[in-house]
Amino acid sequence: MKIVRAKDYDDMSRKAADIISAQVMLKENSVLGLATGSSPIGAYQQLIKRCEAGDLDFSQVTTVNLDEYCGLDPSNDQSYRYFMNVNLFNHINIDPANTNVPNGICQDTESECARYENLIQKLGGIDLQLLGFGHNGHIGFNEPGSAFVAETHRVDLTESTIQANMRNFNSKDEVPRQALTMGIRAIMQARRIVVVVSGEGKARAVRDSVRGPITPQVPASILQLHRNVTLVCDEPALSLL
Ligand code: GLP
Repeated sequence: MKIVRAKDYDDMSRKAADIISAQVMLKENSVLGLATGSSPIGAYQQLIKRCEAGDLDFSQVTTVNLDEYCGLDPSNDQSYRYFMNVNLFNHINIDPANTNVPNGICQDTESECARYENLIQKLGGIDLQLLGFGHNGHIGFNEPGSAFVAETHRVDLTESTIQANMRNFNSKDEVPRQALTMGIRAIMQARRIVVVVSGEGKARAVRDSVRGPITPQVPASILQLHRNVTLVCDEPALSLL
């Protein structure tokens, strides 16, 4: 696992955007696996600037997002589809038809998960997967548990994730209790993985993922088995390493 040390959040965002930009320049029709949360927003802003400056072209890029809350439709400003539109897709020259997020308001969860899984396979897998870490070491919404789940699936969010994500909602009651998430297989089959981690609150997740045992109790620890992972962390996130 390669660890890139960044001074602060902005530096981390620029460095992550450099890697994503290089991916898109070297392969115009890249499949990018994308993440939500506060960690990647700065990198998305960098990508927008570079696209606006004419230095980056997303016209042939396809994206697959990691996850979506159950029960939130795309017009809900807390849905991950809304987040992606507002923080990236609306500002770059990507074809909206080539942007994919699990459907959180599907009638049939099982067939939606199967559809998403097939879609990723049909695209030929993911060229570059961008990840953030949850405080408990979750990736996407693969929460700590007794086993790694391979496929796209529905999860019950843990109390700590509900607490952490509450900051974006008006009250805890509004935070969905379930989500659809890409499983560990599609993430681990990505040809390159870039993780952005910022802040002291994530230091334990970084330490446990990088140095701890590989265990479903810390889902991100599975990344130790991947050949091409780059962790871009600011100083506080690295403070326990
Ligand atoms: C959510 C997302 C994760 C993300 C995590 C951390 O749980 N499902 O993909 O990595 O939040 O978010 P943040 O970057 O805001 O700390």
